Amino acid sequence: MKKFIMSALMIGATAAAQAQNTPVYLDETKPIEQRIDDALSRMTLEEKIAVIHAQSKFSSPGVKRLGFPDLWTDDGPHGVRPDVLWDEWEQAGQTNDSCVAFPALTCLAATWNPQLARLYGESLGEEALYRNKSVMLGPGVNIYRTPLGGRNFEYMGEDPWLASRMVVPYVQGLQSKGVAACVKHYALNNDEEYRHQVNVIVSDRALHEIYLPAFKAAVQEGGAWSIMGAYNLYQGVHNCHNATMLNKILKKDWGFDGVVISDWGGCHDTEEAIKNGLDLEFGSWTNGLSEGASNAYDNYYLALPYKKLIKEGKYTTEELDEKVRRVLRLFYRTTMNRQKPYGFLCSESHYQAALKIAQEGIVLLKNERGLLPLNNPKKILVVGENAIKMMTVGGGSSSLKAQKEILPLDGIKARFADAEVDYARGYVGDTVQSYNGVKVGRSLYETRSQTELTAEAVAKAKDADVVIFVGGLNKSDYQDCEGHDRKSYDLPYAQNEVIEAILKVNPRLVYVNISGNGATLPWIKKVPAIVQAWFIGSESGEAIASVLAGDVNPSGKLPFTWYASLDQCGAHATGSYPGTWREDYKIIDEEYKEGIYVGYRYTDSKGLKPLFAFGHGLSYTTFKLGKVTTNTQHLTPNTQMTFTVPVTNTGKVAGSEIVQLYVAAKQSKVDRPVKELKAFQKVYLQPGETQNVSLTIGVDAVSYYDEAAKGWNAEPGSYEALIGTASDKLPTKITFKLK
Ligand code: BGC
Repeated sequence: MKKFIMSALMIGATAAAQAQNTPVYLDETKPIEQRIDDALSRMTLEEKIAVIHAQSKFSSPGVKRLGFPDLWTDDGPHGVRPDVLWDEWEQAGQTNDSCVAFPALTCLAATWNPQLARLYGESLGEEALYRNKSVMLGPGVNIYRTPLGGRNFEYMGEDPWLASRMVVPYVQGLQSKGVAACVKHYALNNDEEYRHQVNVIVSDRALHEIYLPAFKAAVQEGGAWSIMGAYNLYQGVHNCHNATMLNKILKKDWGFDGVVISDWGGCHDTEEAIKNGLDLEFGSWTNGLSEGASNAYDNYYLALPYKKLIKEGKYTTEELDEKVRRVLRLFYRTTMNRQKPYGFLCSESHYQAALKIAQEGIVLLKNERGLLPLNNPKKILVVGENAIKMMTVGGGSSSLKAQKEILPLDGIKARFADAEVDYARGYVGDTVQSYNGVKVGRSLYETRSQTELTAEAVAKAKDADVVIFVGGLNKSDYQDCEGHDRKSYDLPYAQNEVIEAILKVNPRLVYVNISGNGATLPWIKKVPAIVQAWFIGSESGEAIASVLAGDVNPSGKLPFTWYASLDQCGAHATGSYPGTWREDYKIIDEEYKEGIYVGYRYTDSKGLKPLFAFGHGLSYTTFKLGKVTTNTQHLTPNTQMTFTVPVTNTGKVAGSEIVQLYVAAKQSKVDRPVKELKAFQKVYLQPGETQNVSLTIGVDAVSYYDEAAKGWNAEPGSYEALIGTASDKLPTKITFKLK
């Protein structure tokens, strides 16, 4: 016993001695801010400069002398991108970096289910941990302003409230694993064409009401640890070093304590970068070959050029220390966080998460003549390139090397194993076989002419019980792809022509659209069933087949307005997109002339009827909303108002409905949208079951951004709450007052 006490005492004494010797910056019992101060005081000028810029395509060097390891970032946002060569975009060819491809963020937004956003973030975080990535470059929350936008598929739709509610749990879920979110692209990167040269001119009101709320929510509610500056300009200055965007709004007004990371190659000037809020520079001289092949990283704007200005006395280390402090904070939250869980890649739970999100995000847009769910068809014909094209490969930085991707045709064959499932290519779109060295699984090689392809599809369609046309966009250039926008709102290739030809011989056609954007659907009246199936990743085929078969009752709702034509969209109707080049052809000014009238706010204001409204989505069952009751007749600046509505599943199968609440101002001294989404709730009900859904709003739901006062203003007076199940299906109207 005595011996035991002696040795325990000795161990205690050694631990105390060790603790005494542990420098503060490594002492986990000390507050992080104290550890940061201590680390900073030990760093040389060279070490400080080193941590604020890249050392490879996706990493920065840490401070090895002090025990801070490299910081690895990676795309994002739909899975963990394969490792690339040190200074190339080409994949490195590892064999342990295949990932689960989660559905694109448009699909996540279409679930209208914040719990799934949390699951998405957690699952992605676990994959990132396994791959030793500490910063995931995503999620993206740029607002869907034009359906031509090449990267809309990576974002969360047109509505600031929906995007805000979905981004917060994604960020929290990811960061709960000790992996930083890098919310992008801050801000106003709403189209891809000329993304490095576009100077956005936008009213303060539209900026604060439409384009910033999701970023603000990600920062203030989600607690995002990093944010990515966008390529484009605002007020004539690039957003990666824009004092208004970064110093004023993000850091001062919102209290952001994380790291501003430049988009890859988005930094253009050392002094602007020093002063205007950029903390960590990535991707300058991105090709690493013709430009910056030697010492590329030393030539970064925040590398030797910065050091030189300090040495010459033009700057003190005040700005530098501030940047390093933020980077150290990121280290303590990620690479130096010893409480992190273990990561794992391609686990069954991640596939389940990807499948669930895909199934809940698929939107049933139209369903007539009882075509869906398919009722034991004996002969199915699948038509379309998108049925056999891997969509996880391509599209820019979100391209992945998925361990598995079930193609729609394979998913349909597996689910309808008792039926005869035939396939016709229908049209040729994009036959490229690889992206950044990642190969597509299935050969898309095709030599037949369009006439032959159409003839084959028509011949096979004649005696099919049902034709499933899997079309839409793909991830090729000028489609749903980074770097450019779509050139047309129409479906590309010969799709419309083939659909029309098939309809002449078989009207039992289900159109499954794969995309992150809307498109014109000229044959819409003749096609009985339309399903929006997004880019849904690894489980694509299984998810689509499960919805077609009715194993899963669709419950997604559109996160954007599906315009009938481009002139229903404010950015196009006002002639604002794509902007006007300045005389020197260096900058293109794009004035957001539609102001706050984006998406349904525009179609509402003009009384236009889109093909499918924001928030629209059908089910295989029916729901009835009962009488709405409220806890009070009025709001005050400090109280909330709750609307309770009983929802009943009046059909024969279980399903989910999304109850939506929009607010309309009855009078105002400024222009107000006809209505704005301010609350929603998804509820799952068995046949015959009723549940009460509660929707709560606060004063922010009636506020607008007052440009003169430079702040939010809630005017006392009358408002209406419009409650229903889509932005064009809001049968209940309740008037209330703000006192
Ligand atoms: C994209 C970013 C991406 C980065 C790194 C840029 O071109 O705009 O979204 O995270 O590349 O791949």
